[in-house]
Amino acid sequence: MQPVNIGIIGLGNVGSGALTILTENASQIAAKLGFPLHVAAVCSRHVASAKLPAGLEGALKTADWREVVNHPDIHIVAELIGGTGVAREIIEASAACGKSVVTANKELMALHGAELWDQAIAARINIAMEASVAGGIPIHTVLREGISGDRITTLYGILNGTCNFILTEIEQRGADFGHVLAEAQAAGYAEADPSADVDGFDARSKLAILSALAFGERIVPSDIYTEGIRRISPIDFEYAHMLDHTIRLVCAARQTPKGLLLSVRPSLLPRSTILASVRGAYNAAWVRGKYGADTFYYGRGAGPLPTGVAVVSDLMRVAREIRSGSPERVSPFAHARLGEYKPLPIALNHSAYYLRFRVKDRPGIIASLAAALSAEKISLDAVLQLPQPNADDLPFVITVAPTTEQSIQDALQRMAGMDFLVEPPLALPMEGSL
Ligand SMILES: NC(=O)c1ccc[n+]([C@@H]2O[C@H](COP(=O)([O-])OP(=O)(O)OC[C@H]3O[C@@H](n4cnc5c(N)ncnc54)[C@H](OP(=O)(O)O)[C@@H]3O)[C@@H](O)[C@H]2O)c1
Repeated sequence: MQPVNIGIIGLGNVGSGALTILTENASQIAAKLGFPLHVAAVCSRHVASAKLPAGLEGALKTADWREVVNHPDIHIVAELIGGTGVAREIIEASAACGKSVVTANKELMALHGAELWDQAIAARINIAMEASVAGGIPIHTVLREGISGDRITTLYGILNGTCNFILTEIEQRGADFGHVLAEAQAAGYAEADPSADVDGFDARSKLAILSALAFGERIVPSDIYTEGIRRISPIDFEYAHMLDHTIRLVCAARQTPKGLLLSVRPSLLPRSTILASVRGAYNAAWVRGKYGADTFYYGRGAGPLPTGVAVVSDLMRVAREIRSGSPERVSPFAHARLGEYKPLPIALNHSAYYLRFRVKDRPGIIASLAAALSAEKISLDAVLQLPQPNADDLPFVITVAPTTEQSIQDALQRMAGMDFLVEPPLALPMEGSL
């Protein structure tokens, strides 16, 4: 059988992982498809010094991506360079040449995916992006096809492996955030500039993509309320454990009577829930449908080979479509067209909250804080205080019964001038609906 020809642009973590699989696993792939996938070209700016697996001797090697896109024999282009500039040019140029694209690019697809899909429809090509979120978990396939007959009401994800690794290390070893981050950077798990991970921006791009698939709306990252994990300390895990909870960076998309509420923020999860058991650099997604109820997906969120599997599986799917001449592609967003999203303010969030204070100890503190909460009609649930040696920096916790984020923010505003506070209180939602 004639092969379907692939051009790979970007030979870094993901590109090299995909190439390893395409070469090492070529016979399995051909057996599954009924025809081979052939890597006809590879591209990176430093291609001359790139380490390539055996079996690519005959492939075109170029530093110019246009040579790949314009190559007359190439049927599918894999954009694996990242970023939103050249990557977008590659996808648009491929569409203009009538070539389908496989991409791992969450940033680009979260920002411009809907426009690119419009262009793809016009050009009658496909865009496949399984690797863009939770690399090793086929969550796009699940939302696009596996459970597309359901009406999704809630999606929760742990979508940033670096944050989950850091939080788990704080939890297990009692080490503080800065220490664990420095170790993760030294070991190569975290970037030198960790902001995209620890401030929640990477996770929010991924939630923008998954919630577009799940709910069919045009969601961009800036629509999503986002808080990172920098303020989480070992004492928070001690208190969370006393409450039989843990803390994770939770990506949440919930259908409410007012619309879709989206957030990425550290949250308390009951330890009995399956999401709470996700540890280390693993990712997970938990989806609730109106008809099919709860389903859960777990695996590696990144890494050359897990992400490479997603890229290669997308290449196989698109190759099948090309070979069978299928003119009707399944939208990468699971909906033929995405509707407009009207962002809901996080002030509408309704849940119980964990409030952690650090104070200079003196009589009357609890009474002052309770008065601020009571003024916003917030009911106290529990007050927790572990013995601490330093009365000038005493951490303790108040949990409150379900209320709105607006009420919590108003209460925190009332507390702002209280001179016994060593730092502003930390307020985390306690997820009770899992
Ligand atoms: N790493 C993961 O585990 C992971 C997981 C899921 C998704 N992703 C996504 O996958 C994409 C790639 O990530 P990565 O980790 O593989 O990145 P990476 O290791 O930095 O690799 C990027 C590759 O692109 C090449 N490149 C950059 N600009 C280029 C250009 N203008 N023309 C040709 N080649 C160019 C680079 O090589 P030269 O410098 O030689 O050009 C390099 O080979 C990103 O969108 C990322 O978000 C990554």
